[in-house]
Formats: sequence, structure tokens, C-alpha cells
Amino acid sequence: MKKAGKLPFYGSVPVILAQTKNPTMLRLLLLTLISATILIHCTPKKSPIALTDLRTEHLVEPLGLDTEHPRFSWRIATGDQPVKHQQEFHMYVDVDSVAVAQGKGDLWEKHSASDSMLLTYDGKPLQAHTKYYWGVQITADDGRQSDITVSSFETGLMATSDWKGTWITDVEDMDLKPAPYFRKEFAPEKKVVKARAYITAAGLYELYLNGQKVDDHWLNPIYTRFDRRNLYVTHDVTPFFQEGEVAIGVLLGNGWYNHQSTAVWNFHEAGWRNRPRFLMDLKVWYADGTTEVLGTDDTWKTALGPVVFNSIYTAEHYDARLELPGWNTAGFDDSQWKNALVTKAPSEQITAQSLPAITGKKLPFASMDKRSDQRYIFDLGRNISGVTELALKGEKGTEIRVTHAEQLDSLGNLDLSNIIVHYRPKDSLDPFQTDIYTLKGGGEEMFRPRFNYKGFQYVEVESSKPIDLSLEDITAHFIHSDVKPIGKIHTSNETINKIWEATNASYLSNLVGYPTDCPQREKNGWTGDAHINIETGLYNFDALGVYEKWMDDHRDEQQENGVLPSIIPTWGGWGYDWGNGPDWTSTIAIIPWELYQFYGDDRALYEMYGPLKKYVDHITSLSYEGGLTDWGLGDWVPVKSVTPKEFTSSIYYYVDATILAKTAQHFGKEEDYKTYATLAENIKNAINTKYLNPETGLYGSGFQTELSAPLYWGIVPDSLKQKVADQLAKEVKKTNHIDVGLLGTKTILGALSQNGHADLAFVLASQETYPSWGWWIKNGATTLYENWDIDASSDLSRNHIMFGAISPWFYKGIGGILPNEDSPGFKDFTLKPNFVEGLTNFEAEFQSRYGLIASQWERKGEQLAYSCTIPPNSTATVVLHGKHISMNGESMEPTQEGAYEIPLTAGDYTFLITE
Ligand code: BGC
Repeated sequence: MKKAGKLPFYGSVPVILAQTKNPTMLRLLLLTLISATILIHCTPKKSPIALTDLRTEHLVEPLGLDTEHPRFSWRIATGDQPVKHQQEFHMYVDVDSVAVAQGKGDLWEKHSASDSMLLTYDGKPLQAHTKYYWGVQITADDGRQSDITVSSFETGLMATSDWKGTWITDVEDMDLKPAPYFRKEFAPEKKVVKARAYITAAGLYELYLNGQKVDDHWLNPIYTRFDRRNLYVTHDVTPFFQEGEVAIGVLLGNGWYNHQSTAVWNFHEAGWRNRPRFLMDLKVWYADGTTEVLGTDDTWKTALGPVVFNSIYTAEHYDARLELPGWNTAGFDDSQWKNALVTKAPSEQITAQSLPAITGKKLPFASMDKRSDQRYIFDLGRNISGVTELALKGEKGTEIRVTHAEQLDSLGNLDLSNIIVHYRPKDSLDPFQTDIYTLKGGGEEMFRPRFNYKGFQYVEVESSKPIDLSLEDITAHFIHSDVKPIGKIHTSNETINKIWEATNASYLSNLVGYPTDCPQREKNGWTGDAHINIETGLYNFDALGVYEKWMDDHRDEQQENGVLPSIIPTWGGWGYDWGNGPDWTSTIAIIPWELYQFYGDDRALYEMYGPLKKYVDHITSLSYEGGLTDWGLGDWVPVKSVTPKEFTSSIYYYVDATILAKTAQHFGKEEDYKTYATLAENIKNAINTKYLNPETGLYGSGFQTELSAPLYWGIVPDSLKQKVADQLAKEVKKTNHIDVGLLGTKTILGALSQNGHADLAFVLASQETYPSWGWWIKNGATTLYENWDIDASSDLSRNHIMFGAISPWFYKGIGGILPNEDSPGFKDFTLKPNFVEGLTNFEAEFQSRYGLIASQWERKGEQLAYSCTIPPNSTATVVLHGKHISMNGESMEPTQEGAYEIPLTAGDYTFLITE
């Protein structure tokens, strides 16, 4: 007989009913049945949970990792019933994707009753050249469970000793200008199922297989201090191995390694400087399970070609008459080429380039001004970092000069005077921001430089013989790190919208593998500009990888005594003696801390802990009067009032000591925590003793930076905060304009809006007369400038990120989206919008690691409609003020008179506020 399965409870009720004689028991059973039926019919069906955005090392399915402990992260998709709380997760790691999908992980399994969506691999050791799969499944507190969702990553070479190839170069001197070409053919013996090219260069490279460039990236590998670290890139080159022989071509550029142009930073004297070189392992996996590696060696052939000069700083010269047709395809006759030279490695460390690549976005030009049949001026309509591409037709030997500038003079000619000031050319052969192309003749020719980029809006094309050009013949490529946009601001004020756009344009123009100050005059990794704008970056772009790599550069550059140079990377001399006080090089503290705040990821904080301690101890060794220092540059390019350097540098010393103390606490280093918390307190007291007048609530002379910096950075005693803020408001109201420099732009708007003066902050932010961000916009700016005064005689770059701290203020000061320090990564956060006068509506969106955070408001007659979105598995407290407030149609009780603090879980909420 078939054994009856156990009946579920409801299924057994009719059986019990039929057997029951007792009327009370009968009634009870009936009641149970009815309520159970109601429950079944009334409980809404729960929607399934989906996991999205699975990342390894914050990258999507990356190739060529070399970390032993990669980080995994995921997000919960926002459905119609967003997950309020992830109760637990299961993680499986294996080389077999099917096993992972079935919940098996031979390398690692982790089951944790945790709401974290970021964890670090801690399983069996990872092997080089291996593809791994990981699957994650979560359970929500309402019992719903996701499927096991699978992602992957692949390791590259795990150690420098894993390389089979050797570094090679050609036999030329580093002063020789033409770029070296290299080639080699490879005939795989069997059917290839997978192929990877692992390549590093000192300088820059372009890799071709069978005549095709293997990627659409620019300027690889990303700049590092070449004598300390070289980055290798992994390319999936499987598609090139479809049949027969494969020809490999490598073209090397100078980059920052062999800087031939001369400017004030003396990069041409860099200790590492040399002829460019590279190292490559091309590994193939055969169908029969065997593998083969083709490494670089002296059997590679090399020759010079049409790239007759290239400088990352100035431009590129190309003589098409010297082209080597077919040089990177199979069967090319290289009998006249020389053998490559095996050479020493530039550094002892080769690590994986695990960050967003540098890519280019094509942009059409807006207008053309034909001055003659030998001179054309093009206007892109906006300022960018990048290059131009030209389609040209003309007689053989015609020389084309393509000059790039940010501005025109009064006659409409290109004017480079604002960006050429630090250039020290030795001769006229290397004109600034000017590509030189020599035509080969005989048809349409395409030119775009490979190993250089510029900052520009205007392009002049001048030719030695008449040529015919139209607007369609020229295209720009906006070149920058390919960081995904994750933030959006839109308001009823067009100037504010344009300031936000211009800030993004300057941010991206200054993120070409590392943060720079400007894309034309310098291209230097100025530290101060970068930490002032770390939130500018992180509210708007998914840029963690770029900064983590830059922190590696910081470690590579730090001296034994803790000192860092003011520009990073530097060549080993410049910047250690100038510009590198705590107001600039606090990058070492502020950037890891903000990465932790925005991503909830403490990797950089952990790695920078030792270096930061050294750095703070060094400032302490220089400090005096119980915690002051005057090591620094001060409030750079101020409008008018000059805040004492000692004041701002001591504040950054305090910021560093505070971050160090909090980091020590986070990692359980109690002794350090006590030491540095006490140090921070002492610095604060020293600043207040010397600068604060408790009677008046003024610091120093009461300048805007002097009052806003201590408010913003938490120096002001609580009891005096409002007094100081009111003094600041009074000072600002004298002119209703900003009077700050670089350091003050970080603090002025927040110090006002956090202390009851949001409307006044908005007046400054939206101001359209000098000095203001809006003044630039009114004068046609599409990027941020270096100087408030457009007609100043120095510091006049038109694409500086320096004054970009207004952008995060839109998110924080108007949208009120604020991370919670105790629950980083926006696991928990605050929404404290300011409904500023002068705006009728405002929208801020920010894709946090947990999902979309939105904060939007609109005036509706007498009322204000505020709506917000809290992503899955996170919480927020909404802080609002008003006479009466309703949430999703329901009237709310104030926490205190007129003030509401409303804790929220994942979901969308709408508030109606009567002010
Ligand atoms: C740069 C600035 C930088 C400053 C520091 C300038 O030349 O362009 O952005 O922070 O120097 O001195």
C-alpha cells in the first residue's frame, strides 16, 4: 500500500472535523479553519527577491586579478516589496560554475547571519590564471529567499615571479624621438579555446593582434611611480585565435616614463627615465587541456615607424610617409628589423591594474571658422580632456599642425597664454598642445594621437599646403577614467544645473587614471585638489578603484619619515619640499576615510593605517604651541582675504589625527585610539586658544574661511557653534558673495547650511555675479575655472577641479543625503533636506551600494511635497521641519515642536509639509 504522506495542518482539519463529536471542539476547529482561509487569501503574495550588480573587487567579472583576498559585493534589486533587512547570506566559491549554482563551494563556503553585502574571500589559496565562480544567496527577514546568483572573476599572474617573459626594449637612446614598434608571430600547435595577453609597460603601449587593436582603452598602463610599481593589464584575446598564425604588434609610447618635453617639474630628469619597455606573457589554453605561454624575449623584432615624436605632456607627431603597412599582421617581412634587447625591469613589483580603464567618448564639434584654405578654427562648444581625430586628404608631404587651446583671443585666434606658463621648451620642435601630421597622400587619411591628451575647447588646423576641411572631418574624444555615473542633480535653477554639469566635466577631465589638477598646463596629481573633491567624485561617480590605486601610489611615494610629495605620482624629487603640508597631503587620511563612508569598505583605511600614523607623527614632530603647524600652502587662490596658513594647516592636522583615532578604534587598536584622540583634542584646544574669541564668536579676523573651516571640521566648541555660524552669516551678508580659496570652498556652504543658514548658502551657490561659480557659467564656462577672476593674470586654467566642492553640497546641503559615520556605506543614513528659497523644485539621486537613494522636493502652493527612496537592506532617518507633516497621506506626530525625525526602512515615501 502506498504510504500516505503526512497531511499538512490545514489538510488534516476536514479529517479531524469528520471524527469530532464535541460541539465546542467543533466550533474551535471551524474558527481555526475560517481564520486560516482568511490568512491565505488576504496575505499578499510575496514577490521574489533578485540579486544584482555582483562585483569582485568592485568590478564586474574582472579579468586578471592578483589579490589573494578579493572582495565580493552584491545588491538586492528593488522590487515592489523591497527587502527591509537581509537576515543571512550563503556564499559559495568554486572553479565549477554548476557546483556554485547548486550551492557547493569547494574553495570556500560561508554562511553568515549577517546583513552585510560586502565580504572578503577567505577560502583556499587562489591560483594564477584561473577562472573562479562565486554564488550568493540571501534570506530576508520576511522569510523570502533569493536564488543563488552567480558571478565570476579570473586571476592573472599572482606574483612577479610568475612571469615567463622578460622585459624588452629596442636599442635606442632615451632621447631618440621616434616610438619603437615590436612584432612577433605565434603559430599555436593545436586548437586554442582561450587566450589571454598579460602586458605591462614602462611608458605606454598599444597591443595589436592580426592588425587589430585588442581594446578600446587609452593610455595603458595607468601611470605609477615606475621605479616602485608597474601595472599589468589582462586582455581577453581568444577571438584572435580562430585560425592559424597570429601576428602580435606592440607600439610603445613614452608616457610619463620617458618624458622628453621640458617643464618646471623636471619630469625629463626623472631618475627612472629611460627608453620605453614592456613585458608580455601571451598564454593560450588548448582544447586538449594543455597550455602554452609565449613570453617576450630577444627573438622579438623591433623598428622605428611613423610615430616620430610623442609626449604625454605636449602632443604627438606622425609622419604617415613612414608607415609600415602590415607591420602587425602575419607574413610581414621583418628581415630589416632588429632584434629586441632584453633589459632590466623598471621596478621589482608588477601588480594587476584592477581599476576602471581610461576610455574615450566621441563628441562632434559645434562650429568651424575657415580663415583660409590653410587655416581652420574649430569650436567644440565645451571644454574637455582628450584628443581630436581628423579625416584628411591632401598632397604627400603636406604638414598639418593641430593646436589645442581653451580660449580665443580678441581676434578669434587660439590663445594658449593661460596654459603654457609652466612649459620650458628647449626649441621650437615641440609646440605645446600641437599635434603634427605629415600626409602620405593618395586618399583619405585618418589621424588621431595615441600617447597624449590635451585640455581644450578650440582647435586650429593649419596646413603647409591648401586642404579642404568640413565640420564632419573633425571629431573629439573626451578621454578619462571610465567611472560609472551614479549621481544626478536637477533643479528649477538652470545655473545650478549647469554648475553641476560643469563640475562633472572638470572632475572627469581630471581623472585620467589618477586625479589631476588640470588636463593642459600640468596634468599633475595635486593632492589638495583631490581630497577637497573626494566627495565631488564619490557622490557622482563610482570611482573607488581609481582612489584605491592612488593610495598604492601614496605608499610608493612616502618617505621613511612619513613625508609625502604634493603631487602623486612624482618622479622622486619634485613636491617633497614644496606644497606638501597637511592641507594638501591629507589625502592619506581623508580619501581612505571617505571611501569607507561611501562604500562601507575599509580596505584602503586598513592599508593606509601605518602610513597615516607615520604621517601624523611627522606633523607632530614639527608642531609647536601644543598642536599648531604652519606647514602647508594655505587657502589657495582666494578671492581676497588671506586666511593664515597656520590656521588651516593646523585644522588639517586635527582632521588627520581625528581620522587616525577613529580608524584605530575601528580596528580595535585601543592604545593608538587613546593616543590620537588625545592628540586631536590637544590640537583643537591649541587652535581655539590661539584663534577663537569666545566673546565675539570670531576666529582670527573673521574671514569666511576662518569661520567656516572650524565649523565644518568640528573645531568649534558646541556651546559656541551657533554664535560662530551667525558671525559667518553676518560676514557673508556684507557682500552676499564668497570670499574663499580652495580650502574655504570645501567648508563655506556646509558650515552655513548645517547651522541654520541654508538660504544664505544657496545665495552663494546660485550667485551669478563675480565672484561665484555662476559668474563663470554666465561667461560661458562648461567646466570649472582655477580662478574666480576670469581676467586674472595668473592661475587661469579653465578646467580645474579645485573649486568643485559645490557639487557634493547639492546632495548634502539641499538634498540632505548624509552618510551615517557609525553605519558606513549608506547602510544607515540621514535625509535632512533644506527647502531653500529660490528653488521651486529639486531632485537628487545617488546610487549607493545598497541601491538608489532619492531625495526630491517641490513647492505646491502653500505646501511642500517631499519624496524619498530608501534602498533595500538599509535604513534612514528623515529630518523635517514644518507646522504640519503627513507621510503617505497619514498625519505625523512631531518629535519636538515643529521638528520631525522619522525612521524609515526600504521603500518610497511622500511627505506633504505645511511650513
Ligand atoms: C595647481 C593647483 C595646485 C596648486 C598647489 C597649482 O599649480 O594647478 O591646482 O593645487 O598648484 O600649489
